[in-house]
Amino acid sequence: MPISAAEPLLDIAGLSTGYGKIGVLHGIDLMVGAGEVVALLGPNGAGKTTLLRAVSGLLPWSGRVRLAGRDLVGVNPREIVKAGLAHVVEGHRVFTQLTVLDNLLLAAYDLARSERAARVDEVLHLFPEIAAKRHERAVTLSGGQQQILAVAQGLVRRPRLLMLDEPSAGLSPVLVDRVLVVVQRLREAGIAVLLVEQLIEKALAIADRVYALARGSIVLEAQTGETDLPLRLEHAYLAISSRTSQLG
Ligand SMILES: Nc1ncnc2c1ncn2[C@@H]1O[C@H](COP(=O)(O)OP(=O)(O)O)[C@@H](O)[C@H]1O
Ligand SMILES: [Mg+2]
Repeated sequence: MPISAAEPLLDIAGLSTGYGKIGVLHGIDLMVGAGEVVALLGPNGAGKTTLLRAVSGLLPWSGRVRLAGRDLVGVNPREIVKAGLAHVVEGHRVFTQLTVLDNLLLAAYDLARSERAARVDEVLHLFPEIAAKRHERAVTLSGGQQQILAVAQGLVRRPRLLMLDEPSAGLSPVLVDRVLVVVQRLREAGIAVLLVEQLIEKALAIADRVYALARGSIVLEAQTGETDLPLRLEHAYLAISSRTSQLG
């Protein structure tokens, strides 16, 4: 999908953040266009989760973050959700003792009652694999189905941008494919996705564009269709590991 000339949906420029005095991200530039699927790759500890936390308003940052034209500086997480952002955190977090339906209703708790029911129906329609189990407790779902439920929870508010933090982590290869098919469905529904993934090939197969993050900086940005991309990624990763071994 071409990058639109209009303002991107998510526009991050010169973002730096960390934990207390420890700097983790150093001058990140990244954007996601409306309806675009963008993969964020990088080794463990690179700062991928930290970037999503900053965008969600969970960490203080310097630089610029704009969502749908709105400046997010100083905006609290709840307001950022209202502005159209959904953030599915690492680790398939659902309420295992509640039913699928109750998990979804809870995710929409502050919407009007009638609207809540309609939105829940809407997401269940998108995901037949969990719709069939709507009255069962989430504990009875497979790991892949729990991850799909976590994505569905993020969608109940009709976000413009969904950030997914390693949805495939801990899943068997078959389940990984089922979860990543969900990302295709989101694209078809016009929802932009910022996908953090460890599985490089899988991520490249579904994303329009890709960024690689290493040691808190963006080291590569490309369209996924570029023929030399696997090689460039390999070089970016090699550069990281050789630098790491020199330093370490
Ligand atoms: N709560 C925290 N407090 C202090 N340091 C943290 C915290 N969370 C993550 N870090 C550090 O920040 C760096 C980036 O972590 P993270 O964003 O989780 O990386 P990734 O998601 O790419 O694996 C790591 O060095 C990690 O140890
Ligand atoms: Mg992480």
